[in-house]
Amino acid sequence: MYKLIIKGAQPLNGSIKIAGSKNSSLPILFASILADSPVTLTNTPHLSDVSTTLRLLMDMGSEFVLESDSSIFIDSSKLTKLTAEYSLVKTMRASILALGPMLAKYGKAKISLPGGCAIGARPVNLHLKALEDLGATIEVKNGYIYAEAEGLIGTEVYFEQVSVTATENIIMAATIAKGTTVISNAAQEPEIVDLVNCLIKMGAKISGAGTAIITIKGVDKLSGVSYAVCPDRIEAGTYLVAAAITGGSITVKNVRHQSMRSIIGKLIETGANIKSTKNSITLNMNGKRPKAVNVKTSAYPNFPTDMQAQFTALNTIADGHSTITETIFENRFMHIPELARMGADLTLEGNTVVCKGVKSLTGANLMATDLRASASLVLAALAAKGTSTIERVYHLDRGYETIEEKLKLLGANIERIQD
Ligand code: UD1
Repeated sequence: MYKLIIKGAQPLNGSIKIAGSKNSSLPILFASILADSPVTLTNTPHLSDVSTTLRLLMDMGSEFVLESDSSIFIDSSKLTKLTAEYSLVKTMRASILALGPMLAKYGKAKISLPGGCAIGARPVNLHLKALEDLGATIEVKNGYIYAEAEGLIGTEVYFEQVSVTATENIIMAATIAKGTTVISNAAQEPEIVDLVNCLIKMGAKISGAGTAIITIKGVDKLSGVSYAVCPDRIEAGTYLVAAAITGGSITVKNVRHQSMRSIIGKLIETGANIKSTKNSITLNMNGKRPKAVNVKTSAYPNFPTDMQAQFTALNTIADGHSTITETIFENRFMHIPELARMGADLTLEGNTVVCKGVKSLTGANLMATDLRASASLVLAALAAKGTSTIERVYHLDRGYETIEEKLKLLGANIERIQD
């Protein structure tokens, strides 16, 4: 097991390149199942969630080559096994994204139920109900989803709750269904637009991505393409918070600021000076202590739940009181007790944390619990006086490519060591 050792209280300065988006790469890799020829994805991030997806696809019969320039060549055109096994699905809930493409192309799929998740129950009822609307027969037994369809038929699908991966699953299933599918109350995340842009390049007929109503006209087949994944707005946001929490000045390159408006808006409220160009964002805190900001998570274009933990860390040392309200996941505050061990003044009241900013945190031994909670501990450790040790770093490796290398480039004192 690896640990991170961080000596904090040093401003971060410099520039780094942001990787391709995790939450775009995963659905697009699963979309390769729909194509009748190989897909080449460029700008993919080096992450354990991407490796897990590739292992799962390989187990079902895909072949792939990882190129040294962050591209993946993948041929999933002829799956030989229509089962996603528990041993692979249990580590990554996004594996449910195999369901829509497999069912649409082969009329059959057996996928392990993703099971519990540290940040909340995260059921898949919305995915299953919408696939049933498209004509699938679904049975859940022995921990597996058994889905069958003699050909999916386009229809009206209404999601009673906004879900990113459920929207993606149904879009993918509908691309080669018979007739037209109209999804209402669709998620509007930029990663959905990215998936749809790739599917359109593959030959799909889709309109409305990025809005709450998406229309998909079924086509006979999709073909392989080469596609560049969009930048990771959550990785970019996390590094910008790292600069703000340490009073530093950094530039993140390979980003799209248009998809980060809610995050940038909150950073400006903290007193940060922000300048954006077509594909870079520079944040300068000028050595100042950030001002406390209230945060409430909600579906895109509102403030993302995947940035909540990082802004909680920022608020712990900010000037003033703040509230952080989580409306997407019911148990996404596991960083609170760990931050409190560093001297943060945080009180959890239902789904809201009340934070009284303290002048400084002190280093401590910390336990990473889930991906974004772990990121918040790294940020707090970068700001804290003294040394922090963060255990269970594998959570971070799911979503942050070479995090310690990028932070070192920005001047952080950080080491990864093996126990
Ligand atoms: C995706 C992202 C994740 C992000 C989340 C919310 C990927 C791979 N992951 O996760 O990083 O934190 O969106 O922006 O893109 N729900 C149900 N039933 C369902 C599906 C979801 O009740 O069938 C609930 C969830 O428990 C949650 C809410 O809907 O409370 C939103 O979750 P959802 O958008 O589905 O999250 P994911 O797609 O799993």
